[in-house]
Amino acid sequence: MDRWNGKVAIVTGASGGIGAATSKALARHGVKVVGLARRLDKLKEQQAEIGKNKFYPIECDVTKEQDIVKAFKWVEKELGGVDILVNNAGLAIDTPIIETESAEEYHKVVDTNLIAPAICSREFSRSIKKRNAFGHIININSIAGLYAESLHIPLGMYCPSKYGLRALGTELRHEIILLKLKIKITNISPGAVLTDMLKGIAHKEIATDLPILKDHDIADAVIYALGTPSTVEIPEITVMPQNEIIGVPQNLKDLLDKKFESKHA
Ligand SMILES: NC(=O)c1ccc[n+]([C@@H]2O[C@H](COP(=O)([O-])OP(=O)(O)OC[C@H]3O[C@@H](n4cnc5c(N)ncnc54)[C@H](OP(=O)(O)O)[C@@H]3O)[C@@H](O)[C@H]2O)c1
Repeated sequence: MDRWNGKVAIVTGASGGIGAATSKALARHGVKVVGLARRLDKLKEQQAEIGKNKFYPIECDVTKEQDIVKAFKWVEKELGGVDILVNNAGLAIDTPIIETESAEEYHKVVDTNLIAPAICSREFSRSIKKRNAFGHIININSIAGLYAESLHIPLGMYCPSKYGLRALGTELRHEIILLKLKIKITNISPGAVLTDMLKGIAHKEIATDLPILKDHDIADAVIYALGTPSTVEIPEITVMPQNEIIGVPQNLKDLLDKKFESKHA
């Protein structure tokens, strides 16, 4: 990680969960982190914990292109450009596609999980090209973007958006090679991680008795991918709780089934 010391990272969705854990891990390695999210108060809490000249909070709704462009411009002006991009902001829902009232709900998920990473990657690549720098894009995907067949729970447009995110990484790699840019891309696919997102789609009581990952387990995977020598690229990392087959743990599935049944009783 030494070569990233003093470099700049943008982490989307840095106000909690995996994004906050990743921001802390990057800062520990001397990376200046610019954290984007809608909840500025939560970002400021991260700044208080990590340090003023180590974490820079920017209020940004990643479904708004102008917010993203403005954030990248700020980084360019104030910090000289961005070297690492962690596309982490994500939205999960549990309303079935066929029961969704309006396509607006589909757009919210796809705009957050797929279109925003595309816009961020475009702005990031421009910053790298301009400085002839070395860069790394990390996409925080999900096993929902790899093995949808194993998840027998309704997740609306979540799986389609995450499959798209994986394809986005592949497309970007082709473009980067053609344009001779020095950018690596890593797709990280976690199983269930104990964050607000999971608590939102499952019950509040789901917690420590489940075979479940912690936010810092995913931050560790980010640091591993970034820490490889410049000649080595890790395209895919899947992170599962030990002793768990790919899919939803049975007790989590039971909780979600109960919730689904009571909603449709
Ligand atoms: N938890 C899991 O089991 C799990 C498993 C596999 C993959 N993942 C992926 O991990 C990533 C992080 O999720 P998490 O589990 O850490 O959930 P989380 O704690 O709910 O965090 C989600 C983050 O995304 C941000 N966000 C959402 N919509 C946004 C928007 N429109 N603009 C800006 N920021 C936005 C939120 O910030 P604000 O609300 O402040 O905007 C928050 O910081 C997601 O991409 C998720 O799909 C999670």
